[in-house]
Amino acid sequence: MAVAWHTSLSFNPPLYGIAVASKRFTYQFIIDSKEFAVNFLPFKASELIASIGGTGGQEIDKFQRFNIAKSKPVKTAVPILEAAYAAYECKLIASKDYGDHRWLVEEIVAVHLREKTFTTEGFVDLDKVNPALYLGNEYYLTATKNTIRRLDREAHGKC
Ligand SMILES: Cc1cc2nc3c(=O)[nH]c(=O)nc-3n(C[C@H](O)[C@H](O)[C@H](O)COP(=O)(O)O)c2cc1C
Repeated sequence: MAVAWHTSLSFNPPLYGIAVASKRFTYQFIIDSKEFAVNFLPFKASELIASIGGTGGQEIDKFQRFNIAKSKPVKTAVPILEAAYAAYECKLIASKDYGDHRWLVEEIVAVHLREKTFTTEGFVDLDKVNPALYLGNEYYLTATKNTIRRLDREAHGKC
Protein backbone atom coordinates (compact mmCIF):
# COMPACT_ATOMS: atom_id res chain seq x y z
CA MET A 1 0.00 0.00 0.00
CA ALA A 2 1.00 3.64 -0.33
CA VAL A 3 1.39 5.54 2.94
CA ALA A 4 1.64 9.32 3.13
CA TRP A 5 1.18 9.59 6.89
CA HIS A 6 4.54 8.46 8.28
CA THR A 7 7.36 9.88 10.38
CA SER A 8 10.52 9.14 12.35
CA LEU A 9 9.83 8.97 16.11
CA SER A 10 13.11 8.22 17.89
CA PHE A 11 16.86 7.93 17.16
CA ASN A 12 17.62 5.49 19.98
CA PRO A 13 16.02 3.04 19.66
CA PRO A 14 15.27 3.79 15.99
CA LEU A 15 11.47 4.06 15.88
CA TYR A 16 9.19 4.91 12.99
CA GLY A 17 5.43 5.52 12.84
CA ILE A 18 2.79 5.05 10.16
CA ALA A 19 -0.97 5.63 10.13
CA VAL A 20 -2.89 2.77 8.51
CA ALA A 21 -6.68 2.46 8.32
CA SER A 22 -7.70 -0.93 9.73
CA LYS A 23 -9.86 -1.60 6.64
CA ARG A 24 -6.73 -1.84 4.43
CA PHE A 25 -5.77 -5.31 3.26
CA THR A 26 -2.17 -4.53 4.25
CA TYR A 27 -3.23 -3.77 7.83
CA GLN A 28 -4.10 -7.39 8.60
CA PHE A 29 -0.77 -8.58 7.16
CA ILE A 30 1.05 -6.23 9.53
CA ILE A 31 -0.99 -7.24 12.55
CA ASP A 32 -0.55 -10.96 11.82
CA SER A 33 3.16 -10.93 10.94
CA LYS A 34 4.14 -8.00 13.23
CA GLU A 35 6.60 -6.83 10.60
CA PHE A 36 6.66 -4.74 7.44
CA ALA A 37 8.88 -2.64 5.19
CA VAL A 38 8.81 1.09 4.53
CA ASN A 39 10.08 1.66 0.97
CA PHE A 40 11.07 5.16 -0.17
CA LEU A 41 10.47 5.60 -3.89
CA PRO A 42 11.78 8.16 -6.38
CA PHE A 43 9.58 10.71 -8.14
CA LYS A 44 9.88 8.72 -11.36
CA ALA A 45 7.94 5.95 -9.57
CA SER A 46 4.97 8.25 -8.78
CA GLU A 47 2.70 6.32 -11.17
CA LEU A 48 3.59 3.12 -9.34
CA ILE A 49 2.73 4.76 -6.00
CA ALA A 50 -0.64 5.90 -7.38
CA SER A 51 -1.27 2.40 -8.77
CA ILE A 52 -0.40 0.69 -5.48
CA GLY A 53 -2.43 3.22 -3.51
CA GLY A 54 -5.38 2.96 -5.90
CA THR A 55 -5.87 -0.82 -5.82
CA GLY A 56 -6.74 -3.31 -3.12
CA GLY A 57 -4.53 -6.30 -2.40
CA GLN A 58 -7.63 -8.33 -1.69
CA GLU A 59 -8.59 -8.22 -5.39
CA ILE A 60 -5.24 -8.38 -7.14
CA ASP A 61 -1.63 -9.38 -6.62
CA LYS A 62 -0.02 -5.96 -7.05
CA PHE A 63 3.48 -7.39 -7.37
CA GLN A 64 2.35 -9.29 -10.43
CA ARG A 65 0.01 -6.66 -11.92
CA PHE A 66 2.51 -3.80 -11.66
CA ASN A 67 5.58 -5.92 -12.30
CA ILE A 68 7.21 -4.95 -9.00
CA ALA A 69 10.69 -6.39 -8.52
CA LYS A 70 11.76 -7.34 -5.00
CA SER A 71 15.15 -7.71 -3.38
CA LYS A 72 15.98 -9.75 -0.29
CA PRO A 73 15.33 -8.58 3.27
CA VAL A 74 17.99 -9.34 5.88
CA LYS A 75 16.22 -9.48 9.27
CA THR A 76 12.56 -10.09 8.39
CA ALA A 77 10.47 -11.58 5.57
CA VAL A 78 9.18 -8.22 4.28
CA PRO A 79 9.30 -7.08 0.62
CA ILE A 80 12.11 -4.65 -0.21
CA LEU A 81 11.38 -3.00 -3.56
CA GLU A 82 14.08 -2.81 -6.24
CA ALA A 83 12.74 0.62 -7.19
CA ALA A 84 13.33 2.05 -3.69
CA TYR A 85 16.36 4.26 -3.03
CA ALA A 86 15.99 3.46 0.69
CA ALA A 87 13.97 0.99 2.72
CA TYR A 88 13.48 0.05 6.37
CA GLU A 89 12.70 -3.40 7.69
CA CYS A 90 10.47 -2.89 10.71
CA LYS A 91 9.01 -4.84 13.62
CA LEU A 92 5.74 -3.70 15.12
CA ILE A 93 6.06 -2.80 18.80
CA ALA A 94 2.88 -0.84 19.61
CA SER A 95 -0.31 0.45 18.04
CA LYS A 96 -3.27 2.61 18.94
CA ASP A 97 -6.43 3.82 17.22
CA TYR A 98 -6.77 7.51 16.44
CA GLY A 99 -10.06 8.23 14.69
CA ASP A 100 -10.34 6.18 11.51
CA HIS A 101 -6.63 5.24 11.37
CA ARG A 102 -4.40 3.15 13.60
CA TRP A 103 -1.00 4.55 14.54
CA LEU A 104 1.58 1.77 14.25
CA VAL A 105 4.90 2.20 16.04
CA GLU A 106 7.73 0.04 14.83
CA GLU A 107 11.39 -0.51 15.50
CA ILE A 108 13.67 -0.29 12.45
CA VAL A 109 15.72 -3.50 12.50
CA ALA A 110 17.51 -3.12 9.15
CA VAL A 111 18.16 -0.26 6.72
CA HIS A 112 18.72 -0.64 2.98
CA LEU A 113 20.33 2.31 1.18
CA ARG A 114 21.14 2.44 -2.50
CA GLU A 115 24.60 3.69 -1.69
CA LYS A 116 25.33 5.63 -4.87
CA THR A 117 22.23 7.77 -4.30
CA PHE A 118 23.48 9.11 -0.95
CA THR A 119 26.15 11.72 -0.23
CA THR A 120 29.02 11.03 2.20
CA GLU A 121 26.98 13.04 4.79
CA GLY A 122 24.22 10.43 4.43
CA PHE A 123 21.84 12.82 2.66
CA VAL A 124 19.95 11.91 -0.52
CA ASP A 125 22.10 13.04 -3.46
CA LEU A 126 19.64 15.08 -5.48
CA ASP A 127 21.86 14.81 -8.57
CA LYS A 128 21.21 11.07 -8.52
CA VAL A 129 17.69 10.66 -7.15
CA ASN A 130 14.68 12.90 -6.70
CA PRO A 131 12.37 11.64 -3.96
CA ALA A 132 8.64 11.25 -4.45
CA LEU A 133 6.79 13.57 -2.07
CA TYR A 134 3.02 13.69 -1.64
CA LEU A 135 1.08 16.92 -1.19
CA GLY A 136 -2.31 15.25 -0.80
CA ASN A 137 -5.33 15.31 -3.12
CA GLU A 138 -3.44 13.21 -5.74
CA TYR A 139 -0.63 15.78 -6.17
CA TYR A 140 2.96 14.54 -6.22
CA LEU A 141 6.06 16.68 -6.18
CA THR A 142 9.79 16.30 -5.79
CA ALA A 143 12.88 18.15 -4.57
CA THR A 144 15.83 19.10 -6.75
CA LYS A 145 19.10 20.91 -5.97
CA ASN A 146 17.43 24.20 -6.97
CA THR A 147 14.46 23.82 -4.64
CA ILE A 148 16.14 22.98 -1.34
CA ARG A 149 18.06 25.15 1.13
CA ARG A 150 20.35 24.05 3.94
CA LEU A 151 20.13 26.37 6.93
CA ASP A 152 22.46 25.87 9.90
CA ARG A 153 20.21 25.89 12.98
CA GLU A 154 22.96 27.08 15.36
CA ALA A 155 23.94 30.02 13.16
CA HIS A 156 20.30 30.99 12.73
CA GLY A 157 19.45 30.42 16.39
CA LYS A 158 22.03 33.08 17.39
CA CYS A 159 20.30 36.02 15.69
C1 LIG B 1 -0.26 8.74 -2.18
C2 LIG B 1 -1.14 7.91 -1.29
C3 LIG B 1 -0.96 7.96 0.08
C4 LIG B 1 -1.75 7.18 0.94
N1 LIG B 1 -1.55 7.25 2.29
C5 LIG B 1 -2.23 6.43 3.13
C6 LIG B 1 -1.95 6.42 4.54
O1 LIG B 1 -1.10 7.15 5.04
N2 LIG B 1 -2.66 5.56 5.31
C7 LIG B 1 -3.63 4.73 4.80
O2 LIG B 1 -4.25 3.96 5.57
N3 LIG B 1 -3.91 4.72 3.46
C8 LIG B 1 -3.22 5.53 2.62
N4 LIG B 1 -3.46 5.51 1.27
C9 LIG B 1 -4.48 4.58 0.75
C10 LIG B 1 -3.96 3.17 0.54
O3 LIG B 1 -2.66 3.15 -0.01
C11 LIG B 1 -4.95 2.44 -0.38
O4 LIG B 1 -6.21 2.34 0.26
C12 LIG B 1 -4.47 1.08 -0.85
O5 LIG B 1 -5.34 0.68 -1.90
C13 LIG B 1 -4.50 0.02 0.25
O6 LIG B 1 -4.04 -1.18 -0.34
P1 LIG B 1 -4.39 -2.60 0.29
O7 LIG B 1 -5.89 -2.71 0.33
O8 LIG B 1 -3.76 -3.57 -0.65
O9 LIG B 1 -3.81 -2.64 1.66
C14 LIG B 1 -2.73 6.32 0.40
C15 LIG B 1 -2.94 6.28 -0.99
C16 LIG B 1 -2.16 7.07 -1.83
C17 LIG B 1 -2.37 7.03 -3.31
